Amino acid sequence: MTILVLGGAGYIGSHTVYELIEAGEDVVIADNLETGHVEACHPKARFYKGDIRDKNFVDNLFDNEKIDSVIHFAANSLVGESVSNPLKYYDNNLYGTMVLLKSMVEHNVKKIVFSSTAATYGEPENIPILENDKTEPTNPYGETKLSMEKMFKWVSNAHGVRYVSLRYFNACGAHKSGLIGEDHNPETHLIPLILQVPNGQREKVAIFGDDYDTKDGTCIRDYIHVTDLAQAHILAVKYLNEGKESNIFNLGNGVGFSVKEVIEIARKVTGHPIPAIISPRRAGDPAKLVASSEKARKILGWNPEHAELEEIIASAWNWHKNHPKGFQK
Ligand code: UFG
Repeated sequence: MTILVLGGAGYIGSHTVYELIEAGEDVVIADNLETGHVEACHPKARFYKGDIRDKNFVDNLFDNEKIDSVIHFAANSLVGESVSNPLKYYDNNLYGTMVLLKSMVEHNVKKIVFSSTAATYGEPENIPILENDKTEPTNPYGETKLSMEKMFKWVSNAHGVRYVSLRYFNACGAHKSGLIGEDHNPETHLIPLILQVPNGQREKVAIFGDDYDTKDGTCIRDYIHVTDLAQAHILAVKYLNEGKESNIFNLGNGVGFSVKEVIEIARKVTGHPIPAIISPRRAGDPAKLVASSEKARKILGWNPEHAELEEIIASAWNWHKNHPKGFQK
């Protein structure tokens, strides 16, 4: 049976496809290539270019392939952009998911794993964050992901589509083969921006605020290797295949690093002094986001293998130094 990976040409999607293929699965990728890269698609997966908002396109996938379960990454995911252009997020993330679910119900496809985010929590009340903590997103990105979770809940009640929602914390790192890695345009994420300095693409990195209520005043995040995230999707498909109920899981390492600490580790990994300057805070950044992933460990049997941030940054550096322009030749 085949697994359909929507958004399989993107950063987390492509790494998940690599792990699925290595596990011997038959994989179909669909991606509109708005932010994904065809070069990131595993050569053993069948690739279809198209958009999940296009019902005919999605219907054709289910008509032409024997899809047993779906992994859904096809969404926009930039917090800042979602604040300035919220309707883009409602259209792609929410409307796109609605079209997908309609087609799944019509084609009797009953299992889906999808990307959610730490942004569903907003400013957390407790650290580490638990899945049943308060969800009050502070931006349209987190809001649309939370609404997706709720849409799945009601569709599950009505039509028996079972789902697993995976709330990622900060995805980073690159595949061990060196063939795929992170490539966003524009880049907004901390680790790839830091690594642009030793790569000769920027002179210094900006630290967005050093007056937060944290140990060194800079924001704290829970950095998780993209391959560990990918493994969690495989376990989530297995969980649904075993007939288990719909569920929501956090995915992080449970350890927080400040922006200053991340820069320091990147200096060690690259041997470059990486100059940094203090800049104003970025709107909408919570001071501290650290996951409790106990639930995923206990129920899914998830065990992140790349817990050391130094190793994660080394894998990212291996990708960026060999592909300074990402997938562009
Ligand atoms: N940062 C800097 N300088 C930069 C870029 C980032 O100091 O040049 C800081 C940010 O302010 C933040 C930390 O580095 O404190 C991490 O920022 P990223 O942009 O790498 O990641 P975010 O934590 O903002 O975003 C992640 C996911 C989102 C998710 C969000 C939840 O990428 O999908 O967590 O808040 F929505």
